[in-house]
Amino acid sequence: MRLLLNQTPIEVANPSADVTLLQWLRECQYLTATKEGCAVGDCGACTVMIGRLVNDGIVYQSVNACIALLGSLNACHVVTLDGLQAEPLHPVQQAMVDCHASQCGFCSPGFVMSLLVWWLNTPVQELTTPADFASHRHGVELALSGNLCRCTGYQPILLAADQLAPVDRSTDPLFSALGGYSYCLDTLRAMSTEQHHGRLNAYQRPQDLNQLALAYAAMPEARLVAGATDLALDITQGLKSFEHLIDIKSVAQLQAIDEHSGGLTIGAAVSLSQLETYCQAKLPCMTALLGRFASRQVRNRGTLVGNIANSSPIADTPPLLLVLDAQLILQRGQNQRTLALADFYLDYKKTALEAGEFIHSVILPLPTVPQQVFVEKVSKRAEDDISSTCVALSVTLNNGVIAQINIACGGMAAIPKMASHTQSQLLGQAIDPSLLAQVPQWLAQDYHPIDDMRASADYRQQVTANLIVGFLKQAMA
Ligand SMILES: Cc1cc2nc3c(=O)[nH]c(=O)nc-3n(C[C@H](O)[C@H](O)[C@H](O)COP(=O)(O)OP(=O)(O)OC[C@H]3O[C@@H](n4cnc5c(N)ncnc54)[C@H](O)[C@@H]3O)c2cc1C
Ligand code: FES
Ligand code: FES
Repeated sequence: MRLLLNQTPIEVANPSADVTLLQWLRECQYLTATKEGCAVGDCGACTVMIGRLVNDGIVYQSVNACIALLGSLNACHVVTLDGLQAEPLHPVQQAMVDCHASQCGFCSPGFVMSLLVWWLNTPVQELTTPADFASHRHGVELALSGNLCRCTGYQPILLAADQLAPVDRSTDPLFSALGGYSYCLDTLRAMSTEQHHGRLNAYQRPQDLNQLALAYAAMPEARLVAGATDLALDITQGLKSFEHLIDIKSVAQLQAIDEHSGGLTIGAAVSLSQLETYCQAKLPCMTALLGRFASRQVRNRGTLVGNIANSSPIADTPPLLLVLDAQLILQRGQNQRTLALADFYLDYKKTALEAGEFIHSVILPLPTVPQQVFVEKVSKRAEDDISSTCVALSVTLNNGVIAQINIACGGMAAIPKMASHTQSQLLGQAIDPSLLAQVPQWLAQDYHPIDDMRASADYRQQVTANLIVGFLKQAMA
C-alpha cells in the first residue's frame, strides 16, 4: 500500500492486518507529536487529519489514529501535527497560544488537529450576530466532541476557535497545495491497485462487490472490517491478533445512500458522518441521534452496518431502525437474501449471519405523515458516551387512537429488542392518563434489564417507561 504522510509519499509493503496508524506513526516513522492517551478512541489525543479522494477532490476528516488500521489508509493523505509548519506557528496553533488553551499539553496535539479539520472545512465566519455565534459554537462543539482536556478546561479552547473563525483559510499552505496532493493521491491509488492485484494480503481491500464476495467466500474465517471503531478495540484492549482482515470500505457499490420510493438503501461502507448529513432533511431524528453517537472522529470512520453487525445490546442505531421496520440485504457469494432487522439478532452477540455472509446494505423505510417517530438516548455524558438506555417509538394516531405503534430499546435486554407486549397493549387504545399509567407494568414484561456501571436496572425501567409516556404525550400534542 502507499500513502502520503504529511508531504512524503511512502510505500508500506503488505502491513500486518492489525497494526494501528498510531503504532506505525510513533514506532516506525518516529513521529511522536501524535499522543496515545486511552488507545480506545475516547480521549482524542491521537487525532490526525486524513484526506481521501472523493470524485476529483480531497475530503479531509479528523480520525483517531489509535483505532484506525494502517491497512485501511491506502492512497490517503495522513496529516499529523509534525507536518504543520513550525515557523511561524500555524494559525490554529497560534490561536491556542494566544488564548492560553494549553497547560500540560498532552491533549493539545489532538485539539489542534480537530480544530484544523474544522477550520479547513468551514467557510469564513464573521460572528457578528448572536445567531452567527451560536451556530459557530455548535459546529465547534461537534468538531471537538471527541477531544478531552483534563487540565485547561474547554473555555480557552473555544475562544481559540472564535479567534480562528474569521481567518482566511486560503492563507494555509495546505489549501494552496491541495491540487498537488490530489494528483499525488490519484497516482498512489493507481500504483497500489496494480500492485495488489491477485495477491493474498493480510489486509485486503476489495474494490468492488464481486471481489469482496469472492474474497470472503474463499476465506470465511477472515474478519470483515468497516470503520474498525469496534473491531480495533479487540486489538488495543483485547490484545487479539487478526491474520486476515477484509476491508469493505473501498467497495464502490457499498458507498452510497440511494433514495427510492418510501425509503433509503444505505450501503455497508457508508459512514455515520455521511448518514448524519444525509438525514438532516430526510430523517432529522436520525441526525439528532447521531449527534449524540460517540464523537466526530468515531463517526467519520464508523458505519451504520458496523453498528448493526457488532450486535451490541447498547448500540444506538438499532432501536430507531427497528421501529422503522428496517431490513437488511445479506450476501454470500453471488446470492442475496433480505431479512428483517427484527429477525437478525438471535441472542447476546449472536446474529443470523451465516458463515461467509456479509451485510450488503440496509433498507430503511422513511416515515410518512401521519406517522411520528421519536428517539432518545440516555447517557451520563452528552457526547462520546455509551447509552444506559436508548428508546425509539413510531406511532400513527387516528383521532387520538393508536392505529400503529412500534417500540424498541437498547440497553434493556441482551439484544436491541422490540417491546412487543407493551405495543400490543397500546394498539387500538385511545391515549389518556389511565392508559399511560399502565405503561411501566407492561414494560416490565418486555424487559428485564441488568444493573451495571452505567445505570441500575430500576433506573433503566423507570426512565424507559417515562420516555415512552413522554413520546405518546408529544404525539398527542
Ligand atoms: C470511543 C467510541 C465511542 C463509541 N460510542 C458509541 C456510541 O455512542 N453508540 C454506539 O452505538 N456505538 C458506539 N461505539 C461503537 C462503534 O463506533 C459503532 O458500533 C460503529 O458503528 C461500528 O462501525 P464500524 O464501521 O467501525 O465497525 P467495525 O469495527 O469495522 O466492525 C464491527 C463489527 O461488524 C463486523 N462487520 C463490519 N462490516 C460488516 C458487514 N458488512 N457485514 C457483516 N459484518 C460486518 C466486523 O467484523 C465487526 O465484527 C463507540 C466506539 C468507540 C471507539
Ligand atoms: S489515544 Fe485516546 S482517542 Fe486515541
Ligand atoms: S492541557 Fe492538560 S489535558 Fe488538556
